[in-house]
Amino acid sequence: MIIAIDGPAASGKGTLGKRLAHHYGYRHLDTGVIYRAVAKALLDLGADLTDEALAVAVASELDPEKFGNPALKTQEVGDAASVVSAIPRVREVLLNFQRRFAEDPPGAVLDGRDIGTVICPHADVKIFVVADARVRARRRTLEALGRGEVADEAAVLADIIRRDERDQNRPIAPLKPATDAYLLDNSNLDIEGGVRAAIDIVEAVR
Ligand code: C5P
Repeated sequence: MIIAIDGPAASGKGTLGKRLAHHYGYRHLDTGVIYRAVAKALLDLGADLTDEALAVAVASELDPEKFGNPALKTQEVGDAASVVSAIPRVREVLLNFQRRFAEDPPGAVLDGRDIGTVICPHADVKIFVVADARVRARRRTLEALGRGEVADEAAVLADIIRRDERDQNRPIAPLKPATDAYLLDNSNLDIEGGVRAAIDIVEAVR
């Protein structure tokens, strides 16, 4: 069983993915952290984010043990991730890792931008999570403040909009719902409501 969750920045797909995986006893992969890890490594090196050869080299040597690093969560790293993720060869290098993760038993939940369209086009269930950009900015700001970071809601909103545009308009694996994805709008739902709605979708197709 493979559950694919895609959606724009800060739509809550990571939390949803984690909760669904827990509910079904499946493994969970937040694929955004992979691109964030590549971006963070390039930022740490002071490198140009569009340096294809270096980005590919970094992507080839990622250590999944480090995907939990809280330093990957920042807005700066998210923005940089959306630049490196537009490099086709970077995506190519990271494809097999994601597919292998998806196929190992007993089941997996992957969330990202292209899970239902590119990584797991044959996923059993595809959910495309959306929420109003202002709601997403509010949630992301509160999260950042909760971590003790400085966060300005207007700046977070601008970042979210810029990142979505970049992700939607890139030629390779753009952010878009698969034709067979279920749309889940959680603008007016809390986390529990979103999880219940997602479980209803999974149960309907299982
Ligand atoms: O989901 P998250 O905000 O962590 O993703 C960071 C960036 O990584 C996204 O803005 C997007 O450019 C890229 N990404 C991607 N494909 C995925 C997951 C993330 O291109 N499957």
